[in-house]
Amino acid sequence: MTLPASRRTVLLATGATALAVGCGDQDDGGDPGTSSPSPGQELAKTADIPVGGGKIFKDEKVVVTQPTRGDFKAFSAICTHQRCVVATVADGTINCACHRSSFDIADGAVTGGPATEPLPAQRITVKGDAITLA
Ligand code: FES
Repeated sequence: MTLPASRRTVLLATGATALAVGCGDQDDGGDPGTSSPSPGQELAKTADIPVGGGKIFKDEKVVVTQPTRGDFKAFSAICTHQRCVVATVADGTINCACHRSSFDIADGAVTGGPATEPLPAQRITVKGDAITLA
């Protein structure tokens, strides 16, 4: 089985992130060569984010939601249970497929276990129709 290059890149990036997290807080100030979120990086257009729903950016490990029209939120896309990247946004919740934890799209609060900690908020800026990481 041969994975396409983009799939390999995602897997490698995920491993690198897991290692960095495992080693504690060793932020090197932002390496443009990694897939970690970068300040000023445009994630999406506002029209890409459904009202009452959201969109997961797996490479950036960010989920952007729009609980009500014009109100955009962003959270870490890494489940607080065992660190899977969340899989879907549906019916007002951000859902992890690994063990079925779910989180509120408005504030990241746990709405279903086994996770006990909310998804951490991420800072975004909405300027015109562009959503960027703050
Ligand atoms: S890692 Fe998400 S529910 Fe277990």
